[in-house]
Amino acid sequence: MITASETKLPRISTALPGPKSQLVIDYDKKYMSPSYLRDYPFVAERGYGAIVEDPDGNAFLDFAAGIAVCSTGHCHPKVVEAIQKQAAELIHIAGNDFYHRHMPQLAERLVKTMPKPQDYRVFFGNSGTEAVEGAIKLARYATRRDKLIAFYGCFHGRTLGSLSLTASKNTQRKGFGTLLGGIEHIPYPYAYRCALGHTKETCGGEIIELLEQQIFKRLFAPEEVAAIIVEPIQGEGGFIPAPLFFLQELQRICNRHGIVLIVDEVQAGMGRTGKWWAYEHAGITPDIVLTAKGIASGMPISAFIAKESIMQWKPGAHGTTYGGNPVCIASALATMELIEGGLMANARKIGDYVFGKINDWPQRFKIVGDVRGKGLMIGVEFVRDQKTKEKAADLRDRVIDNAFHRGLLTLGSGENSIRLSPPLIIDEEQADCAIRILEESIREAEKNL
Ligand SMILES: Cc1ncc(COP(=O)(O)O)c(C=O)c1O
Repeated sequence: MITASETKLPRISTALPGPKSQLVIDYDKKYMSPSYLRDYPFVAERGYGAIVEDPDGNAFLDFAAGIAVCSTGHCHPKVVEAIQKQAAELIHIAGNDFYHRHMPQLAERLVKTMPKPQDYRVFFGNSGTEAVEGAIKLARYATRRDKLIAFYGCFHGRTLGSLSLTASKNTQRKGFGTLLGGIEHIPYPYAYRCALGHTKETCGGEIIELLEQQIFKRLFAPEEVAAIIVEPIQGEGGFIPAPLFFLQELQRICNRHGIVLIVDEVQAGMGRTGKWWAYEHAGITPDIVLTAKGIASGMPISAFIAKESIMQWKPGAHGTTYGGNPVCIASALATMELIEGGLMANARKIGDYVFGKINDWPQRFKIVGDVRGKGLMIGVEFVRDQKTKEKAADLRDRVIDNAFHRGLLTLGSGENSIRLSPPLIIDEEQADCAIRILEESIREAEKNL
């Protein structure tokens, strides 16, 4: 329910950034690490639904959702109520040392999303990267092997283990010295740029061949490989979906060689693609599923869900102080109820609606090379020339900036793509508004070509 002072659509009434926003930006510069990216000067003050307001009273339609975190929108009343109620009862106890009912409650809820719920166990952490770290450790522990296979373009986090798997942008790795050894990166199937001219359905066969015929024969014997880790849809890398057969092939290889298949659903999961998990579209059964971001509408919690046959480590082998905190769990339970109660279906419905309206952008705009994704995980790739597919990061940045000045928040992804990852609550009117703003923003960027 929107109150009189609130809005469903953008409302910009100052130059951007406004004077109060500018004060926050200056304040931030004095104290904060310069490593934060901040591609454009948006300052958040309060949020409701799919809208975030800045301190100057400008209202923005949020198609970034805090990097796909605010799945139920900003401050959904049911999530706020669950957090407030739990905060008044028990904030922290350390699930590492003591039992509390919230952990098995959320674990039960999570395993119910898996193909055979009784076969899985759950470990909670605080962030995506912590889920990745835990999964690496578990895969190594369970297999007593240490090699890992990951993909170019994939992003798995910024702590040293997950960073070693991340191969997205060299700025994320540069300057940090030697990372974890025993990791081989292989190409990710990127249909729009497939060297062999394959389609979105068929791209990637040669990568499977590379893995089996080259990597396994010349670098690592498969029986040395602990895990293959893959994003079913690359998030940070450009919102690039892997063809379904490709994920099925990875599963076949893992099954054949006793390799653990880790699917990183930190960005793509939690109903965003119209199913709980993006891997479900391929009908596979991963050994470990990683989740964070959208699971708790903004409260920091992550989980890895692993087959019981794999999660056989000894007490003390892995742990954490805050992971599975009761307040975060209350938020996650409320979030999952909302996702199951309609938001997952809405992601599918509005996603199809948006694709129906923007699929032809490459025909209508000469700087749009590709539109791709699933549900409300939509990527738009910008090029200088549709024939050569020359990447146009500058035009992408201009479109993002133009959209910001019209009241739409988006984020870049990959070298030259925009990611659209709104809260799963958006309706057709909000989708239409975002599409109109983006079309105007693209047209404006094209004018200056
Ligand atoms: C697919 C994926 N894995 C892992 C991470 C790391 O998550 P966090 O930033 O919560 O550590 C991210 C973050 O963007 C991600 O997109």
